[in-house]
Amino acid sequence: MSTVLKVKDLCKTYITNKRQNNVLKNVCFSIEEGEMVAVMGPSGSGKSTLLYSVSGMDKPTAGEVILGDKDIAALSDNELSEVRLKYMGFIFQQMHMLKNLTIADNIVLPAYKLTNDKAKRKEIDAYCNELMRKLDISDIAGNDITEVSGGQLQRACICRSMINNPKILFADEPTGALNKSASDDVMKQLAKINDEGTSIMLVTHDMKVAAKCSRILYIVDGNINGEITLGKLSDGDTKERERKVSNWLYEMGW
Ligand SMILES: Nc1ncnc2c1ncn2[C@@H]1O[C@H](COP(=O)(O)OP(=O)(O)O)[C@@H](O)[C@H]1O
Ligand SMILES: [Mg+2]
Repeated sequence: MSTVLKVKDLCKTYITNKRQNNVLKNVCFSIEEGEMVAVMGPSGSGKSTLLYSVSGMDKPTAGEVILGDKDIAALSDNELSEVRLKYMGFIFQQMHMLKNLTIADNIVLPAYKLTNDKAKRKEIDAYCNELMRKLDISDIAGNDITEVSGGQLQRACICRSMINNPKILFADEPTGALNKSASDDVMKQLAKINDEGTSIMLVTHDMKVAAKCSRILYIVDGNINGEITLGKLSDGDTKERERKVSNWLYEMGW
């Protein structure tokens, strides 16, 4: 297995009102190809900051974030934009879909940014249709983003995040705003994408969502305090995985 993401001594410090807040303190971890890793921990422990810092959305204060063979923490803004567009997918709450575009137009946008070529854009449209079919939202392709349910919108976000075939997908609370059935559904779709080879790193508060991942990191006060490896999700052992995770979270002080 090859390493997709390697994070070394990552620090992130915010300065607000002249006060220094060391949010991430020498965080180290790796994500291997095909892994689906959940990040859990108390509110304010630095989970979102970690996700933003390793995905190039925010500049780390110190440390290395190695994607493939590049230290993305050391790239220029332009180089970083290109790496993010080509190799990373994002499902972040604040990365809203554009209101004046249809669902399908929103999904193809990150791919259109990479080419003006007509034939290539045709291929992108075809791939968009395939993704929408897979995630069962073909019927809302032409809808405005205000004309769909929360679950549908989240599935559209997943399609958008996959349009450039990323090596790794980052998601902050991807099921946080969904009811149980929509949440199960989104997790099923993420598991499918993961099975097809895209590594996933997601933040969640939901023990059942975490139990579907292959590994969980537990972060407290800007440090990884523990981790548990569950292995690939396979049919039938859901309850056993949830029991294991629940016991582990209790040990972690959740
Ligand atoms: N953009 C920011 N500017 C200043 N402080 C921030 C910023 N983002 C997060 N923080 C601070 O970093 C800490 C961790 O926040 P966050 O990563 O959002 O935690 P979590 O996602 O685990 O709830 C909090 O103390 C928060 O106030
Ligand atoms: Mg958060």
